[in-house]
Amino acid sequence: MKFQEDCRILEKRIFNNYLYLSIETKDIAKNSLAGQFVNLRVNDSYDPFLRRPFSISDVEKDVLKLIIQIRGKATTLLAQKKEGESVNIIGPLGNSFPLFDKDAIFVAGGIGVAPFPFLAKKVKNIKLLLGVRGKSLLPDIDIFKDFDVVISSDDGSVGEKGTVIDLLVKENFNEKVIYACGPNPLFRALNKIFSSCGNIEAYYSLENYMACGFGACKGCSIETVNGNKLVCKDGPIFKWNEVIL
Ligand SMILES: Cc1cc2nc3c(=O)[nH]c(=O)nc-3n(C[C@H](O)[C@H](O)[C@H](O)COP(=O)(O)OP(=O)(O)OC[C@H]3O[C@@H](n4cnc5c(N)ncnc54)[C@H](O)[C@@H]3O)c2cc1C
Ligand code: FES
Repeated sequence: MKFQEDCRILEKRIFNNYLYLSIETKDIAKNSLAGQFVNLRVNDSYDPFLRRPFSISDVEKDVLKLIIQIRGKATTLLAQKKEGESVNIIGPLGNSFPLFDKDAIFVAGGIGVAPFPFLAKKVKNIKLLLGVRGKSLLPDIDIFKDFDVVISSDDGSVGEKGTVIDLLVKENFNEKVIYACGPNPLFRALNKIFSSCGNIEAYYSLENYMACGFGACKGCSIETVNGNKLVCKDGPIFKWNEVIL
């Protein structure tokens, strides 16, 4: 069930180019599952016209937590909001991460870390592999202090020089469940590795462009081995070998 609410920003923090928001909700937070997202209107005007989707990063009772990379118009406007101001949110939306009784590896490309604090509460023995382009694009890893975290950067300015794929191939991942979130090139690189392995349990959280966020506009259609599906309604979580990337 989804809700639409005007929600008050309780806490706002900016670290590097990332905005951390804690938002008070009536029903959204307590009905959310790890992997779901919200669709957020940044102001009362129609500029920007469309809502923007963001992964539910964590929930604590009625409080919803988001991690937002400041990129364009909507996220810049959001970053200018003050604590106490409101945003209109529709959520929770989409499906959720399937859970298994297995050790887990989280693979994140930059802002792809966003859904993992919430998922971390549901799985055990987690290792987070986080790839960023450089140190200035590193999210606040303090929030992952209870995880085993390994970082890579393209330019070597933080962690190991290389990509998150280089980190994954060093892991014994076959017996584990892999959850990945990031841009499509990351998923394509993962597919190359997984397709030469046996039975891999891996799930991707896709971040395609969206409009309505709940299946009405058909604007987020993707091709899968089971025909066309909507990222907002059938996803955003898909098994690695289901989506045609
Ligand atoms: C299910 C889902 C969950 C998401 N979760 C998060 C999250 O937790 N945190 C977060 O920061 N972002 C997340 N995103 C992406 C986020 O929605 C966009 O970054 C945001 O809409 C950008 O809005 P803007 O107006 O600031 O930027 P725009 O002006 O719309 O775009 C600025 C730049 O960002 C790029 N961009 C915009 N949207 C996307 C997108 N969906 N994927 C890749 N590149 C994009 C554009 O190509 C452009 O280069 C998610 C997207 C989806 C679909
Ligand atoms: S965003 Fe409208 S159908 Fe998916």
